[in-house]
Amino acid sequence: MQSNVFSAQLRVQGGAGPAARSPSLVDRPSPGRRTAADGFSWWQKGVVYQVYPRSFQDSNGDGIGDLEGIRQRLDHIVDLGADAVWISPFYPSPMADFGYDVSDYKGVDPMFGTLADFDRLVASAHRRGLRIILDFVPNHSSDQHPWFIESRSSRSNPKRDWYVWRDARPDGSPPNNWLAEFGGSAWEWDEATGQYYYHAFLKEQPDLNWRNPEVQEAMLDVMRFWLERGVDGFRVDAVHHLVESEEPHDNPPNPHWRAGDSPARRLIRLYSLDQDETHDAIAAMRRLSDSYGEDRLLIGEASLPIEQLMRYYGVSEPGFHLPFNFHLIKSAWKPDVIARLIEDYEGALPDDAWPNWVLGNHDRPRVATRIGARQARVAAMLLLTVRGTPTIYQGEELGMADVPIPPDRVQDPWEKNVPGLGLGRDPERTPMQWDASRNAGFSAGEPWLPISADYADVNVSAQRTNPKSMLSLYRDLIRLRHEEPALSVGIHLAAEAIGPVLTFRRQLGNRRILVALNFSRDRQEIPINAPGEVLISTHLDRIDVQVADVLRLRPNEGVVIGKTVE
Ligand code: GLC
Ligand code: CA
Repeated sequence: MQSNVFSAQLRVQGGAGPAARSPSLVDRPSPGRRTAADGFSWWQKGVVYQVYPRSFQDSNGDGIGDLEGIRQRLDHIVDLGADAVWISPFYPSPMADFGYDVSDYKGVDPMFGTLADFDRLVASAHRRGLRIILDFVPNHSSDQHPWFIESRSSRSNPKRDWYVWRDARPDGSPPNNWLAEFGGSAWEWDEATGQYYYHAFLKEQPDLNWRNPEVQEAMLDVMRFWLERGVDGFRVDAVHHLVESEEPHDNPPNPHWRAGDSPARRLIRLYSLDQDETHDAIAAMRRLSDSYGEDRLLIGEASLPIEQLMRYYGVSEPGFHLPFNFHLIKSAWKPDVIARLIEDYEGALPDDAWPNWVLGNHDRPRVATRIGARQARVAAMLLLTVRGTPTIYQGEELGMADVPIPPDRVQDPWEKNVPGLGLGRDPERTPMQWDASRNAGFSAGEPWLPISADYADVNVSAQRTNPKSMLSLYRDLIRLRHEEPALSVGIHLAAEAIGPVLTFRRQLGNRRILVALNFSRDRQEIPINAPGEVLISTHLDRIDVQVADVLRLRPNEGVVIGKTVE
């Protein structure tokens, strides 16, 4: 038991760079990160908001969200207090994987609008002080991309080597046992040219061959195209898949695989994932992005264990500013597990690396479904008070839950290929709930996925005017984070579980913050010696209350306590 949560011996966690080592970080910003007057970049202090464009706002009644819809709803994101919007793909696509199969990297699918709509969206966002982060999908194109159409046209086509082609084994079977993420072999036979091509995801998503310098140059040119149009950075899709082993070794079996897990996880992706050469490609992306100014942000999507993930910050070469940290999504929602996760992650961060946290996205069940509505408020407080850049997935700020999808309305190819295991991603992709009107204000037409049954209560308009709603909680937490530099850029201290209560501290200069999160349905008390004042409770009903010796937490309550020491 901890007797004095505020003034106990400071245990600075991990080698988390200057931020963790030195409380005087503000005076000594780390090199390469100083673009703001106080030494921190906007993305270190800021909050990222993910928009899944198909489901955010439809402006033309076809039941599918679009760029003009996003533009019309920017004020919601501004009111929430987010600093940047990451938009999932809107490029021309046959939509086999709903936009993650790109057939033209430099355009806008007519379903989502036009390049002019995009430029208008960027201008509107920038006028409001919002940054725009695009989703860059470098691992694979669509099989309808002109590059792949050429590549598969003949073995001697100049673009043949832009994709990963291999001969069959003598018996005609695929070159090795590699599996596709969305089911089946990762190799697709091409009858016309008599070879297999590799696809880490759907067969409609052939992997580009990043070992080919022409591919690298063409893809960097794609980044240049959007950087020139004013985007503030990229979230780089599936980047750990970028390069595969040149030798066609079989992947070894995974002893931890259990029936019900994704079939792709039967194998350990030793030769098909996370290869050394990937980091050269990332370094090239980073150099290009830096050449447009140090405030451009690169986020990497690589769902990997913490030790492997750290390399994506860059080792001898530059890496990502933020390799996405999905471990809150993958970990059991238990105070000791989460405390250990925070400490392990902080402890693993390389010098100069900036942490980040995520509760959900368009690929994973929603947090409110995983841990329940009450604990989702506690999770929101964790996300927005722990050290590191938070990313919020659209609808999370309303407490939206997964929506059951009737069989005849299933859209996700993963669910279609590998049915019944709960792998399908439609439940977390249903339309954003704006108000209590027809289709939740999302569309005048029939939405591409069903609207949640709870939309009459769970919507932006209802929650905006309710001072205790989830939306109010997110808004107030983000405001507090912006007002309290100790929360955005302060050091992290000592995450620990005191029974069912997770506590950790933040500190900047003489400002001390204590966060205490009750994971249980019971009242809890934790002793604290030094008095402080409540800055916010997840119940949104006590502020400015002094806490002296004992902090009393109600069921499912989290609080943030602050004090200034002399
Ligand atoms: C990433 C995306 C996911 C997509 C996959 C293939 O994991 O987040 O939605 O299906 O890459 O591009
Ligand atoms: Ca539309």
